[in-house]
Amino acid sequence: MIRLANKNILKIRTYKPGKPIEEVKRELRLKDRVIKMASNENTLSPSRRVLGAIKRKLNDLNRYPDGGCFYLKRAVSTMLRLEPENLIFGNGSDEIIILALKAFTKKGDEVIVARPTFLIYEIASLIQDLKVKVVPLKGFRYDLDKMAEKLSEKTKIVFIANPDNPTGSYVTGKELDCFMKKVGKDTIVFLDEAYYEFAKNMKNYPKSIKYLKAKNVIITRTFSKIYALAGLRVGYGVARKELISAMNKVREPFNVNSLAQAAAVEAVNDNKFVSKTLKLTATGKQYLYKNLESLGYDCVKSATNFILVNLKRNSKLIYRKLLKKGIIVREMSQWGLKGFIRVTIGTMSENKRFIKALKEV
Ligand SMILES: Cc1ncc(COP(=O)(O)O)c(C=O)c1O
Repeated sequence: MIRLANKNILKIRTYKPGKPIEEVKRELRLKDRVIKMASNENTLSPSRRVLGAIKRKLNDLNRYPDGGCFYLKRAVSTMLRLEPENLIFGNGSDEIIILALKAFTKKGDEVIVARPTFLIYEIASLIQDLKVKVVPLKGFRYDLDKMAEKLSEKTKIVFIANPDNPTGSYVTGKELDCFMKKVGKDTIVFLDEAYYEFAKNMKNYPKSIKYLKAKNVIITRTFSKIYALAGLRVGYGVARKELISAMNKVREPFNVNSLAQAAAVEAVNDNKFVSKTLKLTATGKQYLYKNLESLGYDCVKSATNFILVNLKRNSKLIYRKLLKKGIIVREMSQWGLKGFIRVTIGTMSENKRFIKALKEV
């Protein structure tokens, strides 16, 4: 028996990611094409332009990557009209969550999270031996009034996924303005905008960059979703220079690999690919809403590339039956949402196959 120094570790339920395609094929001995609609990835492969950049970098794999992500920092700072010193890159935006916790909290501090939301906030906070205050969602949306009520001088970070995963809902600019006014000077508001590009044109979606000057705010975005680079792991944080500098101190020196950096530099300027993804997602979403609702299921309206669906029946059984048909969705019991699945929007043929299979099972 090993004695854990941090008893919080015992409270952690190991994160179960969506099943990989190869695993499903192996376990169920499936010969036909398996489709994954489980992890909110981009269903499209990276563009030829991005693949070209990756190939050009292959010969340099004997070298360590650029620890400062110079070219990527330049590309993203130009896109956001910020200084390169306002940016930090991570092995996925997930890593920025961990860097923020390492840099700005110590044992016994408090964080505030919603539930259900992206599970990593709670898991990473427990690993840091922090006290996690939980605020339930209200009508599948963040309840910022209740979250503000939980603020205290011990609160070091408040995590807000905007849009949220698994619901796909978002908090508006007005709601966020109101919340920000209540946040003290020693608290960081962590705005996780992993699905920013899908949501930015939604009605009243906040322009979060404006908070950077006056407040302790860290905004994260990712290359895993709209830019179709989930397998390479690269995301970034935006904040005031002093916050970025503190997170750089606790960062592993070569945390973003060189293929990810090369791909991301190219992807940032690939507007054609971004438009294609947005179009595919918008059409797919309308198709899925219409068909799911006509089957009698409730969909939570989503500002992202996925939909939370209330099947109102045994979702575990339906999940398993869909798996046998070569379709991987996410069953939501892990989030405490019994009877729900979350489905990532696919290509039109994937969406159709999913609806057909759902009807059959
Ligand atoms: C809300 C949210 N934040 C962060 C992430 C992690 O993204 P990354 O691949 O950049 O680590 C995800 C991934 O699903 C997410 O849903």
